[in-house]
Amino acid sequence: MIYTLISPLDMHLHLRDEAMLKVVAPLSAHSFSGAIVMPNVVPPITTIEAVIAYKERIVHAIGNNVFEPLMTLFFRDDYSREFLEKAALHVKALKLYPSGITTNSEAGVASMDIEVLRPVLEAMSDLGLILCVHGETNGFVMDREKEFGSIYESLASAFPKLKIVMEHITTKESVALLDTYENLYATITLHHLLITLDDVAGGMLQPHLFCKPIAKRYEDRDALLHVSLKAHPKVMFGSDSAPHPIHKKECCGCAAGVFTAPLALQALTELFEKHNKLANLQAFVSDNAQRIYGYKPLYKEVKLIKAPFCVPSSYDNVIPMFASQTLAWSIEHVL
Ligand code: NCD
Ligand code: ZN
Repeated sequence: MIYTLISPLDMHLHLRDEAMLKVVAPLSAHSFSGAIVMPNVVPPITTIEAVIAYKERIVHAIGNNVFEPLMTLFFRDDYSREFLEKAALHVKALKLYPSGITTNSEAGVASMDIEVLRPVLEAMSDLGLILCVHGETNGFVMDREKEFGSIYESLASAFPKLKIVMEHITTKESVALLDTYENLYATITLHHLLITLDDVAGGMLQPHLFCKPIAKRYEDRDALLHVSLKAHPKVMFGSDSAPHPIHKKECCGCAAGVFTAPLALQALTELFEKHNKLANLQAFVSDNAQRIYGYKPLYKEVKLIKAPFCVPSSYDNVIPMFASQTLAWSIEHVL
């Protein structure tokens, strides 16, 4: 059995920098046609020079693969309109992190006060820049995303022309917001379609499944599955593939992030096939994103075949999800 995807896109990806970039960038670039690249490197991407230089390092790292890195800026509430006008020539989106909420987010916003954010968000809205948001408060870990819901609502109503992407949603409440506000969209990861908190911490602790936002309850996963499998027009695949070296995962004080880039399409195909929804996968992994971002990707054909794929035990010093396990689908070739 064969299934072909055209120009798959990963709308939320961490490529890191330096040695790690060289390991992970070719893996995404092999099977995806493009990706929204997150700016939470060290130091975060806050200038146009940094965007251009980081993009050059990525392009160098991907070699001959057909792949376009779609760059983002790390959101700061003190950017000027003039700066954003220039930035709009180089980035599709700005990524907003509440300060300290996840990996390398210390330089994020200290307050989600709309009046503080207004000048930047108004300029972004006028310029057609997309706002990507890590939507968690600093409340109880299982409630952080749900608590952030009222902030999404305030942002969506205050800036009706601004496209707001709720990144890596994990709750049924976030899913419900999609149909309430025209300008709210979402990315959904592979791992949040597959696991719940039980898989992370219900038995022996699984550091390679630990991420932010943490995987939630069965009813949350069901809600995510429901909108993904039908390729709800406002959801896009965003892997949130977030590699950390093994010594930062298997230690006291495990870093948050699941590394899925090299197996994401194979596992998604398996999942959609299992639910008899293969016909909707193309929209989930590319068409919806193209429409939402107003973006025409580089052409790429990814031919998947129903043949076992044994996920490597590691990629250099990074352990992937499903390490040493076998998936039902593999990538036969990429054109
Ligand atoms: C991401 C990372 O490691 O950069 N970690 C994660 O758990 N998802 C950051 C993020 O997207 O929150
Ligand atoms: Zn992320």
